[in-house]
Amino acid sequence: MDIQSIYQKTILFAAHKHSEDNQLLPDSQLPYVVHLSNVAMEILIAANNTKEFDINFATQIALLHDTLEDTTTTFDELELEFGTEIAKGVSALTKNNTLPKEERMLDSLNRISFQRKEVWAVKLADRITNLQKPPKSWDSLKKRKYKNEAETILEHLKDANLYLENRLRSKIEEYEQYFD
Ligand code: NI
Repeated sequence: MDIQSIYQKTILFAAHKHSEDNQLLPDSQLPYVVHLSNVAMEILIAANNTKEFDINFATQIALLHDTLEDTTTTFDELELEFGTEIAKGVSALTKNNTLPKEERMLDSLNRISFQRKEVWAVKLADRITNLQKPPKSWDSLKKRKYKNEAETILEHLKDANLYLENRLRSKIEEYEQYFD
């Protein structure tokens, strides 16, 4: 299948799942699929700037990356529809809700480190797209915590992809403009 067909098949699957309970972007009335297509956009452009990058694999991971965490989708369903490697990649990007909240991100980063570099790249792309103007309700502490988290992600995963490493680094710097 060509990348365009893979993209269409995968975004339809993900959009359908994320709209089952009408999931929206935080602080907006826009459907969640906007976030997924933004992450996939980062991945497609990174692929264009990276040697030896599995664009088909990475695009599917990008579009599916929140299905296990935020929808009723199961690992088995992903495996059946997209194969074991994709299901495992998405699983690594999924926080383990049985752990204390403050341990969840490092646990996920650790599991991502055992996956292919394209899975790391999706985590970088996810945070790049999320470092936008924070919601008005966020206080200074929350914004600083979010920036620190982004720095932890960068530190752990930067070796995956030089292009996305540089994108995330400059996004983190730009984010400081939102501090009070
Ligand atoms: Ni996400």
